[in-house]
Amino acid sequence: MALWSGRFTEEVSEFTQRFGASLPVDKALYAQDIAGSKAHARMLGAQGIISEQDVEQITRGLDAIEARIEAGDFEFDINDEDIHMSVEKALIADIGEAGARLHTGRSRNDQVVTDTRLFAKQRAGDLMAANVALRKALVECAKKHFDVILPGYTHMQHAQPVFLSHHLLAYAWMFARDFKRLAAARDAADVCPLGSAALAGTTYPLDRRATADELGFSGITANSLDAVSDRDFLLDLSYAASVSCVHLSRLSEEIVLWSTSEFGFITLSDSFSTGSSIMPQKKNPDFAELIRGKAGRVVGDLVALLITLKSLPLAYNKDLQEDKEGAIDAARTLEDCYTCMAGMISTMTVNEAAMNNQVNKGYLAATDVADYLAKKGLPFRRAHEIVGHLVLLCDKRGCGLEDLSLEDFRAQSDLFEQDITQTLDAVSIADARTTEGGTGRSAIRDQLKLVEEALAFDEALVEGE
Ligand code: ARG
Repeated sequence: MALWSGRFTEEVSEFTQRFGASLPVDKALYAQDIAGSKAHARMLGAQGIISEQDVEQITRGLDAIEARIEAGDFEFDINDEDIHMSVEKALIADIGEAGARLHTGRSRNDQVVTDTRLFAKQRAGDLMAANVALRKALVECAKKHFDVILPGYTHMQHAQPVFLSHHLLAYAWMFARDFKRLAAARDAADVCPLGSAALAGTTYPLDRRATADELGFSGITANSLDAVSDRDFLLDLSYAASVSCVHLSRLSEEIVLWSTSEFGFITLSDSFSTGSSIMPQKKNPDFAELIRGKAGRVVGDLVALLITLKSLPLAYNKDLQEDKEGAIDAARTLEDCYTCMAGMISTMTVNEAAMNNQVNKGYLAATDVADYLAKKGLPFRRAHEIVGHLVLLCDKRGCGLEDLSLEDFRAQSDLFEQDITQTLDAVSIADARTTEGGTGRSAIRDQLKLVEEALAFDEALVEGE
């Protein structure tokens, strides 16, 4: 019998029961549900709505149920609609009358969204911690390979030389922005809807702030209709997770590319690679590919929730039951991806020689040769054209700019002097980019300070909770 069976004369069919149930998904929220119920019961007691004896029994009963769930001794009844029904039914079975008083001044509508908000806060915090760990791995790798130089690319063509540390820190910044999004999602979840009841509030003299305080919420929702129908905080979490997964997919793509024999820039450790069941020589970057692929499902989770919420009238509608599965999945997926990526980055081998080798191809010094002329007074467009001619000449000879003689340079412009050869050295080219945020090592050192400051700040924010 369902807990709401009073006004019904017929049981739902087994099929509709199963179809309507959310227990297989929301039993993951048992701890939040029990915490919410305990806080609610204590507040009911403090307000004189139920007796202190009842509170005592309810609290003990709920603790026992929680312990049973945790020990795997709790029989979830597949005929229960959701975790709220399961726990309440068990409580009533265990302690009787007092258990039946727990749901006073409460509805599953405010109960479920309280549980979900507690869950979102917890998971956003977990993700923030995993995000920090990944950023640390990137920063460590950047420091370790501080002086390694490689081609920087635009359009996947050699553009200008950059330091590997600069390249890795670019990702650290992406993930630093993701951290902010996760923190914002945690804040968005941080108000307590309990007391909104089904949709309109309740006639009982509830102390909403006391329940909110006990549950660690910073405040309470201001409108009961909004409170039971709002899932924006889950959208925020899903969006934050999606953006971060997109960033992870970009990094994964580079890892896949850099592990090819064509690039050979990195070698993944065996622990983050797999073999082939047929081709004995294979060492595949499976985990980078998998992380790249996981972005699809997490973005899917976000889109699914957006569309579930689209056109929903106030207040609670059963459609909202579809909110949790995707959010749980998105959080778990991102957490695993962060952990996997951090491990992959900290164990990969950087093949400095392969990177260096490529720096000498593709006329990476061309912009600097043009700048050399422009700094001697030639308009940059004119200088650009002259260097274009020099590149054409190299193309014809099958050589690099560094192989041209001073005469070759001077044949294009007599502004060229002996010192042009220094301009062609990749390390000097990169180091000369000293603008704030540039790839020159002096600028990267400053950047590292900023990255580490942000990391320390964010880490404190994680630990603060
Ligand atoms: N299982 C429901 C959910 O996840 C709980 C709230 C149900 N409320 C209701 N009035 N049917 O949304």
